[in-house]
Amino acid sequence: MRAKRTSLVHIIYFSRLTLSSDPAKRSAQVDDITRVAQKKNEFAVITSLLMIEGNFAAQVIEGERTSVHETFDRIAADPRHREVQICEWREIAKREFVNSFKCAQRGGSNDTLFAKANLLPMFQRGTPKTSAILSLAMAIQADAMSRQGIDHLFV
Ligand SMILES: Cc1cc2nc3c(=O)[nH]c(=O)nc-3n(C[C@H](O)[C@H](O)[C@H](O)COP(=O)(O)O)c2cc1C
Repeated sequence: MRAKRTSLVHIIYFSRLTLSSDPAKRSAQVDDITRVAQKKNEFAVITSLLMIEGNFAAQVIEGERTSVHETFDRIAADPRHREVQICEWREIAKREFVNSFKCAQRGGSNDTLFAKANLLPMFQRGTPKTSAILSLAMAIQADAMSRQGIDHLFV
């Protein structure tokens, strides 16, 4: 018999980044966030995808209720972004993401996916659709996986 699952939740939020306008410094700041987030999320069995478009960030965080809560509290208090607003916080039947932390910044190969999702005007109005954020995150992951040739494992 399968072991009973602990209760899984996800949080989807968006925020305004307060990172440096200097591209090299900004990139080092994103690397810092990634390094720490990967480690901490792995330890807390959290899976997550962060999207960055201009100065807006949106992130999906999934995992066991308490871990997600603790992680989100730390993230919300981080001065590297402000106006952190939760779009959705709910129980989920299963995870959608496989990595402890991935960061996708708009540009290059993912540009078409970001363009199709058209989140920027919604961010600017302060009313992004949860479904648009989640489907962009899933499309980014699916694209990354098919590039690695492992998409057949996640149908
Ligand atoms: C946009 C953004 C996303 C972040 N995502 C995560 C995350 O998924 N997991 C995490 O542990 N920290 C994340 N962080 C970093 C946390 O805010 C915090 O700096 C880090 O967890 C270390 O916390 P501590 O200094 O209290 O130990 C993120 C920060 C920002 C600005």
